Amino acid sequence: MKIAIASDHGGLNLREEIKSLMDEMGIEYEDFGCECETSVDYPDYALPVAEKVAGGEFDKGILICGTGIGMSISANKVKGIRCALVHDVFSAKATREHNDSNILAMGERVIGPGLAREIAKVWLSTDFEGGRHENRVGKITAYETK
Ligand code: RB5
Repeated sequence: MKIAIASDHGGLNLREEIKSLMDEMGIEYEDFGCECETSVDYPDYALPVAEKVAGGEFDKGILICGTGIGMSISANKVKGIRCALVHDVFSAKATREHNDSNILAMGERVIGPGLAREIAKVWLSTDFEGGRHENRVGKITAYETK
């Protein structure tokens, strides 16, 4: 599994935390910035990561900003992306099992690093359930491609 990760200035610290979690889990990833602590625009980081995931270059993505909202709105504009904004462990598991979410968005200003690590850990290690959920996800894909 190969993960693309990025953040804006509001998600810098949490991005480092999640990278260290992926190191511990032995998960391969590539970091797409941002590089600086000055103010940047979240779509400039969300859209390239979303395109890389949608294009198959990466299996999944993780996007972090202050709230996670800007990143999730941006990523979900890309066809094939199901980006879930998650701030609790139950939803992290459910969105993989039910929605087959391929990008996880979180907000560094919303939750602490401990909870964010648990969310990412569960999200990264939970499989899509398929079955009745396949049909539902398929309807989203069909809408995107009509
Ligand atoms: C940046 O100040 C902040 O707006 C951004 O990180 C994010 O929360 C947007 O949704």
